[in-house]
Amino acid sequence: MKFEKIAAPKGVREYLPPESNSFEWVREQLINPAKAAGYQLMELPVFEDTALFNRGVGESTDVVTKEMYTFEDRGGRSITLRPEGTAGVMRAVIENNLDRGQLPVKVWYSGQFFRAERPQAGRYRQFYQVGIEAIGVDDPALDAEVIAIADQGFKNLGLKNYRLEITSLGDAQSRAAHRVDLMKFIAGLDLDEATSQRAQINPLRIFDDKRPEIRQMMASAPILMDYLSEYSSAHFEKVKSYLADLGVRYEINQRMVRGLDYYTGTTFEFVHGDLGAQSGIGGGGRYDVLMETLGGQPLSGIGFGLGVDRALLAAIAENTLPVSQFQSDLYIIALGEEMKSTALSFAASARRQGFSAEVDFGDRSLKGAMKGADKSGARFVAVIGESERESGSVELKRMSDGTLISVKMGELKKVLGA
Ligand code: HAM
Repeated sequence: MKFEKIAAPKGVREYLPPESNSFEWVREQLINPAKAAGYQLMELPVFEDTALFNRGVGESTDVVTKEMYTFEDRGGRSITLRPEGTAGVMRAVIENNLDRGQLPVKVWYSGQFFRAERPQAGRYRQFYQVGIEAIGVDDPALDAEVIAIADQGFKNLGLKNYRLEITSLGDAQSRAAHRVDLMKFIAGLDLDEATSQRAQINPLRIFDDKRPEIRQMMASAPILMDYLSEYSSAHFEKVKSYLADLGVRYEINQRMVRGLDYYTGTTFEFVHGDLGAQSGIGGGGRYDVLMETLGGQPLSGIGFGLGVDRALLAAIAENTLPVSQFQSDLYIIALGEEMKSTALSFAASARRQGFSAEVDFGDRSLKGAMKGADKSGARFVAVIGESERESGSVELKRMSDGTLISVKMGELKKVLGA
């Protein structure tokens, strides 16, 4: 009987070798600056109680109304695959009382996120983010550092063709003052029922509407930045001046609307120039009320999520991926089955000495094995025979130019370390 093949689900992005090497490299570069700044790993479930996102991310967002993978589990509970990371981190912080210790709580995370969007280049239904959250302190210096950490991640990738956009969504007082005028403005527009309802939940959302007629109507709408309270305005001025001191270049985008409802105060996005419609490579901001909304103390936090898939596309577009670093230092070939044990020990020893080493498996001819070595891209090849086993020395063939170099098996640094 012949079985049909099964394909991956629609819109899912997966990474196989050799591309997965680039993916792994990109992810490391993006998160290293956060680790160096004292952020510690948080591993969280990929599914949560649906109420967490309804309440945390917000009922007016596309994410909650259209894009969540929600299902009933076997116990009849409503479960949702996480569309983003911040709500889950906050849930875990509150549940485990981390906010009762040293503040800010500084954590990083990395993993899959799920949004049932229409798939296209750079937009997937399962995608990857690395992110950080710094929870419990409201200090503009922290805002600037969080933004600088994200920026350093993109710089680590060698990216140049991107810009950082920042804005302030203000505190409760600023938003309340703006809301009054914005609602008045929106009441004078000819909007369909669904859009009006959205405006009732979060009028800022209408700025994010992609329809040209709505965009045109909103062109003269009152802008939140003009309503910032003294506190918010001073806070934002400080963030900007710290960023300038850090040498992080930014542009102000007064009309930025993020896709999630919890943002307040400093809010930002990184936009890449080579990615077409899906140009957002990362974004984040401050959230003053999220913790309280989720049943915790009234403490503020700030964080970001960087899109690993899109950062990889950006690195490909700017041609910044390293070529050589995914190849082994050493490829070891055993001359016949009796030499396999020595080849295995030599490989293990090479790895203990700090080098990557691969063994040629299967019983192929020396010619076939050399082809394998060539294909692997390893820097050096060693062939293990009787005399190598007896003497403990090998001849390493440098693949780039064919040079042969004799070395003791335990002293690889002399050759490979150079
Ligand atoms: P976000 O802007 O929704 O923010 O997502 C962050 C990044 O994830 C985006 O800039 C983008 O690069 C990537 N991304 C989002 N959706 C997709 C998709 N369908 N396919 C590929 N990449 C995607 C958040 O998720 C917030 N939790 C960030 C944050 C953390 N704010 C504060 N703390």
